[in-house]
Amino acid sequence: MTNIAIFVSGNGTNCENIIKYFRDKKDINVCLVISNKADAYALIRAAKYGIPSKVLTKQELYDEENTMKILETYNVNFIVLAGFLLMIPDFLINKFDHRIINIHPALLPKFGGKGMYGHHVHEAVKAAGETETGITIHYVSNVCDGGEIIAQFKTNLSPTDTVEDIEEKIHILEQQHYPQVIENTITERK
Ligand code: GAR
Repeated sequence: MTNIAIFVSGNGTNCENIIKYFRDKKDINVCLVISNKADAYALIRAAKYGIPSKVLTKQELYDEENTMKILETYNVNFIVLAGFLLMIPDFLINKFDHRIINIHPALLPKFGGKGMYGHHVHEAVKAAGETETGITIHYVSNVCDGGEIIAQFKTNLSPTDTVEDIEEKIHILEQQHYPQVIENTITERK
């Protein structure tokens, strides 16, 4: 059985989509949502589906004993980041080798790194006059947005696309692909 913990910081549209996707699966299950923000709307989404959640400050997350105890309590053996804005501590990267994945709303290695999240990414894509953008799903390493790439999906941009249009195109790609790529990644490593 694969028990996924989803790490979130904000709205949680990806988090909800992943919860819904795995609801009826036999051997993959979302068992916990962890947020570093007590007011993340993702926590309300998790509650709607009866998924337990925990709020951890950065300090609590970086406390190995504290975090491992929580993950062990819920038998977590796979971690999915869905708009999580803290760096993952090294002890988790080591303990969950190739078992932590992230989604980034651009075609890495372009538009990645510190400070590149959410609308900042779409604004940078627009400012650069890109003709395409997309999403990258990758393993998490100790380099921000630098882990091994699992999958990328592209969408065309037109010069008249606003930042909001870009955001919407990315949202559609994320909703279409992230849960399936999570499932394939888990299934292929079994
Ligand atoms: C998503 O677009 C995700 O790709 C992005 O944050 C958004 C979260 O939206 N992640 C990053 O920018 C990570 N660097 P959501 O909370 O509605 O799922």
